[in-house]
This record gives sequence, C-alpha cells and structure tokens, in this order.
Amino acid sequence: MRVVEVQSKDRELIEKIYLNELESFGVMGGADMWMIMSFIRYGKLYTLVDEKDNLLSVAQYQGVIGKQEAFLYGFSTSLKERGKGYGKILLKDTHRKLKDIGIKKIYLTVDPQNKIAINMYEKEGYKIEELQQDEYGRGVHRYLMMKKLM
Ligand SMILES: CC(C)(COP(=O)(O)OP(=O)(O)OC[C@H]1O[C@@H](n2cnc3c(N)ncnc32)[C@H](O)[C@@H]1OP(=O)(O)O)[C@@H](O)C(=O)NCCC(=O)NCCS
Repeated sequence: MRVVEVQSKDRELIEKIYLNELESFGVMGGADMWMIMSFIRYGKLYTLVDEKDNLLSVAQYQGVIGKQEAFLYGFSTSLKERGKGYGKILLKDTHRKLKDIGIKKIYLTVDPQNKIAINMYEKEGYKIEELQQDEYGRGVHRYLMMKKLM
C-alpha cells in the first residue's frame, strides 16, 4: 500500500474519493466535487491505496491563511476496510508530510458521539480544545481537537 497526494488529473481516484464521501458521510459533512477539487488545488488531499489502487483511507486538509496551521476537514476509511489500521497509517504519514512543509498545528472537529474517531485522534496526539455548541446548525455540536506537530 502507499500514500498518494491526489492531483487534479487523477480522475479515477477522484471519482472513488467522491463515492467514499457519500458512503462515509451521506449528505451531512461529506465533501462534494467542488470541495474535493478545492482541497486538491489549494490544500492537500491524501489517500492510502492498496497495490490495485483501491481506496483505503482519505485525508482532506485545508491551509489556514497567514498561519502555519491546517484544518483536517475530512477523514475516513472505506466502509469495508475499517478497523484494519489504515486510518492510523494515513494520519501518521500525512502529519509527517505536513510537518515537512512547515505546518505546526492541525485542527479538526468531530461529533462528540463519534467515539471511534475520537479514540483514534487521541491516540495520535490530538487533544480536545473545546465543545463548539451548535457549530454546524442547531443541535449539531462538535469537539474542536488540535495536535501540535513536534
Ligand atoms: C474513524 C475512522 C476514520 C477510523 O478509521 P480506521 O481505518 O477504521 O481506523 P484504524 O483501524 O486505523 O484504527 C485507529 C483507531 O481508531 C479506534 N478504533 C477503530 N475502530 C474502532 C472500534 N470499532 N471501536 C473503538 N475504537 C476503534 C482505535 O483507537 C484505533 O486504534 P487501535 O487500533 O490502536 O486501537 C473510520 O471509522 C471512518 O471512516 N468512520 C466514518 C467517518 C468518520 O467518522 N470520520 C471521522 C470524522 S471526524
């Protein structure tokens, strides 16, 4: 398996990423094609793929203007590939890549009920900074988490 930084010409892979967004997030919170292309061209979009280029995990980062910080907008593993350690591999690898280009902090938001994701982020060194009440609409709360890249 390998980590790929997705480029705008990688149309087959982009289609797989789009379908994975629908499968992982439905219509709430997933990235549409406009956002996917924006991550590719103006942020960083990384995927972990197997030797046949099947999609394992996806990480979508935005840069924070004027700061050496990034926001992890979206992170998911293909439904049938979950629980096999792929998420951890992609998180660790992309943290290294972002550190190499000068990023010092990563922020993300996560549903307070999403224990699996919170476990994963805490294991990878993220800390809960605050509860953002009604962040994405009434009753749609989020934890803001942050990791310093050392
Ligand atoms: C959250 C998600 C990305 C984890 O990806 P994954 O590839 O299955 O994760 P991994 O197998 O690498 O496991 C990483 C850690 O997650 C946690 N985890 C994974 N599966 C778990 C489960 N069933 N129960 C509890 N914790 C679990 C563990 O802490 C695990 O570390 P460990 O193996 O050392 O115990 C995946 O479940 C997913 O895509 N969920 C839907 C989308 C989503 O919620 N994304 C996060 C949005 S903020």
